[in-house]
Amino acid sequence: MKRVILVAGALALSAAAFAQAPSGPPPMPPYMMRAAAPAGDRLAPGRDGQSLFEAQCGYCHLAGGMGTNLLTKQQMMAGNPPQKGLLTNREDLTGDYIKTVVRMGKGAMPQQTKVDITDAELDAVAKYLGKAG
Ligand code: HEC
Repeated sequence: MKRVILVAGALALSAAAFAQAPSGPPPMPPYMMRAAAPAGDRLAPGRDGQSLFEAQCGYCHLAGGMGTNLLTKQQMMAGNPPQKGLLTNREDLTGDYIKTVVRMGKGAMPQQTKVDITDAELDAVAKYLGKAG
């Protein structure tokens, strides 16, 4: 009888351990979840700046991305809070500056051509991010 209780107890314990074991891989950080580019005419004005930003820039500029990491360091060295490492938290960027950086590249950021992101798409991203005009 004692043995049966012991075995039942051991079984219950291991079942509980299984129930608490995390199943599958951990969730991916935001920058790894590359969003699909929005459908539609890539040359038409009025594109969705937020989804284009997430698709074209997010793998570097969402949380955990290498662009965010590098800009966080730059912002902190300038005495700003680390949250300013995210481009979406910046209030000092103009649309023209953003477009120039994307077309020319800057430091560790590679440039993007009109095939990567059309002028109409870049306009939408610049409008979404460029809170300083
Ligand atoms: C391959 C990674 C990568 C991609 C993709 C990328 N960036 Fe960057 N971006 C960076 C890095 C890294 C920096 C910091 C460059 C440096 O100072 O060395 C940066 C810097 C910038 C800056 C300058 C910020 C400042 O403080 O001067 C802007 C603006 C910017 N990116 C906008 C964009 C936009 C808009 C897109 C999408 C169209 C984009 N980036 C896509 C990596 C990337």
